[in-house]
Parts: sequence; structure tokens; C-alpha cells
Amino acid sequence: MSHASRLVLVSHRGPYVLRPTARGVKRERTIGGLAVALLPLVEKIGGVWITSGESAGRYMMPPRKPRFELRYLPLTAEQKQGFYYGLSNNALWPLCHSFLGRVHYDLAEWNMYEQVNSEFARAALEEADEADLIWVHDYQMARVPFFIRERRSLSRLMFFWHIPFPPIEIFRTLPWRRALLEGLLACDLIGFHIPEYARNFIDSAVELLGAQADGDFLHYAGRTTQVIARPIGIDFAAMDSMARLPQTEARVQQLHGALGGNTLIIGVERMDYTKGIVERLRGVEHLLEQHPGWRGRFSLMQIVTPSRDGVEAYRQKKREIDEMVGRVNGRFSDGIWIPVRYQNRSLSPAELVAYYRTADIALVTPLRDGLNLVAKEYVASRIHNDGIVILSEFAGVAGQLREAIITNPYSQEDVAAAILQALQMPKAEQRQRMAMMRARVKAQDIRWWVDGFLNYFDHV
Ligand code: UDP
Ligand code: G6P
Repeated sequence: MSHASRLVLVSHRGPYVLRPTARGVKRERTIGGLAVALLPLVEKIGGVWITSGESAGRYMMPPRKPRFELRYLPLTAEQKQGFYYGLSNNALWPLCHSFLGRVHYDLAEWNMYEQVNSEFARAALEEADEADLIWVHDYQMARVPFFIRERRSLSRLMFFWHIPFPPIEIFRTLPWRRALLEGLLACDLIGFHIPEYARNFIDSAVELLGAQADGDFLHYAGRTTQVIARPIGIDFAAMDSMARLPQTEARVQQLHGALGGNTLIIGVERMDYTKGIVERLRGVEHLLEQHPGWRGRFSLMQIVTPSRDGVEAYRQKKREIDEMVGRVNGRFSDGIWIPVRYQNRSLSPAELVAYYRTADIALVTPLRDGLNLVAKEYVASRIHNDGIVILSEFAGVAGQLREAIITNPYSQEDVAAAILQALQMPKAEQRQRMAMMRARVKAQDIRWWVDGFLNYFDHV
């Protein structure tokens, strides 16, 4: 990226929610892969980040040592319902994760999606001149590039799609499939995590729009768009340093003390039906049932962070998880030992790193996940090179973390077998596998990822 231009980031979810309190505005971190990954990036390179917020406003961030500007666009209650809970989370999210049974299409919600996307496009144009780089993110904002290009044809436009892009047989069920594809094809460059999603997108553009494919380029309506696959990275150095802090060490000792000498397995996710939490609990149940000798010898610490509770499917899944945790604990706890320790809250990065360091095994078994940052964060926190990752074959990150124990989350037998293998893995083998995963997560970190995008306009 040339030094003269500035970065204008556009995403529905930003890094902070601001809450007015009696003592001024309080800043709360948001969670989820997008916000967590982009924050260190924009803190390093600066620019302006347009996101949705409770009320309109502009803030320099962080307030004491400003590195970038945060601009909030408010949504009305009706917009939040139709655009966010409705079209984004009740249509595009299940569609892209291939959960067709959960998809709900509603024209009024699509119209609201168009309206909100058009407002974000207008805000982006207010911030950017023609030399600036506008970088739009994720499925809530797919129409933004179209509205930008319509108003200013010479914009420099990129997109990153953070979730899976489904196979064409699934994608074609979307009534507004052409509009969504056209929205994205208004960009110069579109990124996906892995080649499979990029291929699915290209197939859909060719088949449903009649775009012409030429390697990783698509030609459509007189324009050319490059489509690339590059999995998002984490700030490995920051995570590794945080894991080495004396405070982290103290917290790890405290957790070890409180948990006794048992093997600890950790699961960390947003409350989401794509994360396979109920299925994983079935795997744990199966293991305890089939191998009674392991009762009392390990625990699963399951952290489930509240998410999208305005959507009924999420509220229902929460009830199912609560029930399943109760069932497994009720069946197997002996009054002192508890198989599943369950926390329903959001943890700070410092607290999460302490948990990652304490846990012998990370259980990451989504039914489908665009990438999955938790698995990378666990690896980056393992400063002594030990620990094991059990990973779903349906997580995008499986291609990068090849030394994990790969499992099919739909099979309780398979999940139980993976946990058993992890419980018995010798330290030497753990170290061998972890060293390779750490090297890859470190080499393909957030800086590596971002360079692949920001350098693009230097070469065209
Ligand atoms: N996270 C967090 N606090 C929590 C739970 C999760 O900060 O209590 C963060 C976690 O560290 C990770 C992100 O939220 O960076 C989740 O990203 P991931 O890609 O695993 O899943 P997503 O939520 O994006 O589907
Ligand atoms: C995933 C999506 C993000 C989203 C995050 C949290 O990571 O890819 O776009 O921000 O989940 O979900 P939320 O609906 O709370 O923004």
C-alpha cells in the first residue's frame, strides 16, 4: 500500500461496543474472529474503521494513544431486526455454513439489508478519496462494494469473506443470489480463507451470472476481479508474549491448583449451532460410557460466550447445551469430580491465554467453520511446545494445522476416539506436532495475511 493512501475498513461488527455510564463512555471489547483479527492490524497501520454502533459518533482509538479512528453508524431497531438478525443471521449465516434446514428467506429483510449496505457505502465514500483503499468485510456487507462502485467508479476496493462460501447447489437457493454476487464483483480483489471457498465462489459467479473465469480472475460487466485464498492469521508474537508474562504464569498455577492434577480439555466458542458443542458433549459422554477407567481423570472446561440471542435458533441451542451439560454431569459426576465445567460468559484475551496454557488439550470441533482462530490462539499460547489440538475436518484451519488430531464432529465415536488418542499421546509426540504447528501459525500470522492484500494495489 502506498504511503499516500489511507485505509478505510468497513464491517458490521467493530472492535468495541461503547456504553455510556455515569462516569463517561465505557469501552467493551467485542468477540468473534473478525473483530479480534482486525484490531491489531488497524492499530498498526492506522486509518478509519466504519462499524455499526448504538449511536453515531467518531472516536480516536485507543483514546490515550490514538492509532486509528472509529466511526459508528447507528441502526434503527427495525434495521437491526431485518438486516442483522434477519437476513445476515437467519439467511446468509446458515446458508454459507451449509445448514439449509435453518435458512429463512424474507424479501422485506433483504430490502433492509440493501438499505443498510447502501448507508455503509455512503459512509465509506465520505471517508475515502480515490487514492484511498476501501476494505469491506464479511457476509453482512456483501452489497457495499456495489453501492460504492455505482457512486464512484474509480474506487480501490477489496473484500474479505470471513465465513465459508458454500457449494453452488446450496448457494443457488438464495433468491437474491445474483445481486449478492454482483455486490462482491464490484471489488478489485476478493479474499477467502481457503481454496475451496474461492472455487465455490468462482463456480457460482460463472454459473449464475455468466462471469468468465480465467485462473483466479473473473471478468464480469466490463470489470476484472481477482479471487484469492489466504487464511487469516493471528498476532502470534503478541499472544506468545502474553503467554510468558508473570501474571499469566501466576494465573496458570492458580488454575492448576484449583483443578487438581487432572488432564484439562478446553473448548472456547461463541454460542452458535455451527460450533458443534452438543455433538462434542455426546462424544465426551460416549467416551465416559465406553471407558469407565477414564472417569475422574479428565475434565472439559467449556466456555460458551453469549451471541446473537435475538435469534430463536440461538436461544434454543443454548437450552440444548445447558441440558446436555446437566445430563453428562448428572450421569458421571461422583460428587467431587465433575466431567464438564461450563462457563457462559465472555473472557478477556489475558484470561483466555491463561486457560490455553493450563489446558493439555484443545477441543475444536465445529460442524462447519470458516477458519477458527481459537485453534491458532491455543497453539500460539503453548510456549513449552506441548499440548494437543483436536480439530474438526470441517474447520477451514484444518489445512494449516495438519498435525492436529483430525476428527469428524458428527460422529460421537470418532470424537471419543480422538479424545482417547489425545489423553494417551506421549509428550515427545506432542512436542513434535506442536512445534510444526507453532512454526506455521507464526509464519502465517496477521502481518503475513495483511501483506497479501495491501500489496495488491502496488502491483496493478
Ligand atoms: N473470544 C474472546 N473471548 C471469549 C470467547 C472468544 O475473546 O470469551 C475470541 C477468541 O479469542 C477468538 C474469537 O473470539 O479470537 C473467536 O473467533 P473464532 O474464529 O474462533 O470463531 P468466530 O466466533 O469468529 O466464529
Ligand atoms: C463471525 C463472523 C463475524 C462476526 C462474528 C461475531 O466471526 O464471521 O462477522 O462479527 O462471528 O458475530 P456477531 O454477530 O456478534 O458480530
